[in-house]
Amino acid sequence: MPLPDSFLQELTQRNPIESLISGYVQVKRRGRNLVGLCPFHGEKTPSFTVYPENNSFYCFGCGAGGDVITFIKRIENLDYRDAVKFLADRAGMKMPENDVDDTMSRLRTRVLEANREAARFFHASLYSPAGIEALDYFHRRGYTDSTIRRFGLGYATDDFNSLRDALRKKGFKDEELTLAFLCARSRRNNSLYDIFRNRVMIPIIDIRGNVIAFGGRVLDDSKPKYINTSDTPAFKKTQNLFALNVAKASAGQQLILCEGYMDVIALHQAGFSNAVAALGTSFTADHARLVARYAKEAILIFDADTAGQKGTQRAIGLLRETGVDIRVVTIPDGKDPDEFIRKNGADRFRVLLERSANDVEYRLIRAGQKYDLSQAGDKVNFLREASEILSELQSPVERDVYAGKLSAQMDVRKDAILQQIQRFAAQKRRQQEKKQLGNLVQKAEGLTAQANPEAKTYPRAAAAEEALLGMLMLHPDRIRRVRETLPPEKIVTAFNRGVYSWLLERDAAGLSVDLIHMAESYSDSEMGYLSRMLRDAQERRESPEELANYERVILQEQQMMHAVDPTELTPEQIQAALKALRDSKK
Ligand code: UTP
Ligand code: MN
Repeated sequence: MPLPDSFLQELTQRNPIESLISGYVQVKRRGRNLVGLCPFHGEKTPSFTVYPENNSFYCFGCGAGGDVITFIKRIENLDYRDAVKFLADRAGMKMPENDVDDTMSRLRTRVLEANREAARFFHASLYSPAGIEALDYFHRRGYTDSTIRRFGLGYATDDFNSLRDALRKKGFKDEELTLAFLCARSRRNNSLYDIFRNRVMIPIIDIRGNVIAFGGRVLDDSKPKYINTSDTPAFKKTQNLFALNVAKASAGQQLILCEGYMDVIALHQAGFSNAVAALGTSFTADHARLVARYAKEAILIFDADTAGQKGTQRAIGLLRETGVDIRVVTIPDGKDPDEFIRKNGADRFRVLLERSANDVEYRLIRAGQKYDLSQAGDKVNFLREASEILSELQSPVERDVYAGKLSAQMDVRKDAILQQIQRFAAQKRRQQEKKQLGNLVQKAEGLTAQANPEAKTYPRAAAAEEALLGMLMLHPDRIRRVRETLPPEKIVTAFNRGVYSWLLERDAAGLSVDLIHMAESYSDSEMGYLSRMLRDAQERRESPEELANYERVILQEQQMMHAVDPTELTPEQIQAALKALRDSKK
């Protein structure tokens, strides 16, 4: 059941796109529009634009675009119905009476409900006689009862059915329990059993307070150390960070990124409640964007082992793309933060934090360790590598400071070092510009190809169609000008034909053709393609007379499609066709 038009209309009015988006993205006014850094891909110069005029957004860096619903779908990782609900709640509106939850949304809700019950059950078990050992385990690790309560920690008992039976009693269906990754079916007799057994349980809670997943750790050294919820209808591990729900409130400008659940819990208990961790996977670009949304600076604490160091390098690279400042903490003796704090206390840890190097210092130190600096050849190679690292610094003052340090340390002239830095910087800039341009073109093309694959075969027709559709979406009053002369079947590419028919039908029925009414039927990338048409039209600001030109091109292309094979044309026919083409381009 599609939602009533009047409801969607009110939803748009009560959620003006500029105020909605400015809750997620820092935007600045530029003319009629607002611009900011795109939350959907990493970038340092803003290409994300909000168009209050027609309640749409478009990023010409990655092609993301659409209406308010598309925005919420993508940024909150919700499906269509839940995004609508989210916006309705935000505006204090009731969902329409006859609205029946669609399946995906209902499943999601059920999975979240099952998780919440499971978390309660695990927590209660921890404080039951069966949980004595587990509780002792937490206490031995130094976690207080108040920490245990704050994180909702729990225990999954050592049997195969207790959670299953408890949740069945609460009315959960078997499929809901398997979808939630709480239970699985035995391969032998298809019976349902608990996945988490004899493990201490750490619930993962999202920023809205939903229990979305669990990590379960063994109490000894057996393997696997952790079992984690794999992706469910309510959870994607690359898009969430453990403890962000707490950390976001106290983050201020900083987030501490560490490797393990246990480290995060220990850090919070020691007063560092801005600590978070990735969830049983390595740090991803999604994580980096999430960090950038909540903090200006990220402090990385990864283990000193090789895997940890690799993780650090990787995270630095991904975070750099988003423009957040980065600092790196190295813990002496290769301990993790949890161990360090237990042995040395919170105050010593604070000193470590304050002394932590920024990522450039960190990388210089790592580079230095590779070379024997008493050897002339190694010295040259180290200086080259160091200059390359320093060339990434944007600020000339900072470059100068580090060049000075290096110069003193290596006994080399400072301006020689500065020169080398500059050469690297220029080289990098050229490479980057080239890459960016390539990326932009590729992304825009990729977007079109996804939404409208035929555009590649009929580029001229598709371009005219896009311009025509953009203009009609921007000025619905012009739809009647083409209605009679350009019937839908003349539109060459199928996707655009569908959009065009939709516009004609809506207009004939006297209904609005705002983007928000398309959000239910079109995918996110299709919405991106549509909002690009709209944006281009807005930028061109063409008069209605231009419609006739686009119409002519489309009709011509339509004819060409059905024309005889060009290899069979006579020379006269070829000349005529070429002339027609030339004329149409004038
Ligand atoms: P660690 O082995 O450092 O775990 O792995 P930890 O949480 O610090 O646990 P302790 O201190 O040894 O008790 C870091 C993170 O990697 C993921 C978990 O997210 C863990 O917190 N991990 C590790 C898994 O998902 N599965 C594993 O088997 C091991
Ligand atoms: Mn640990």
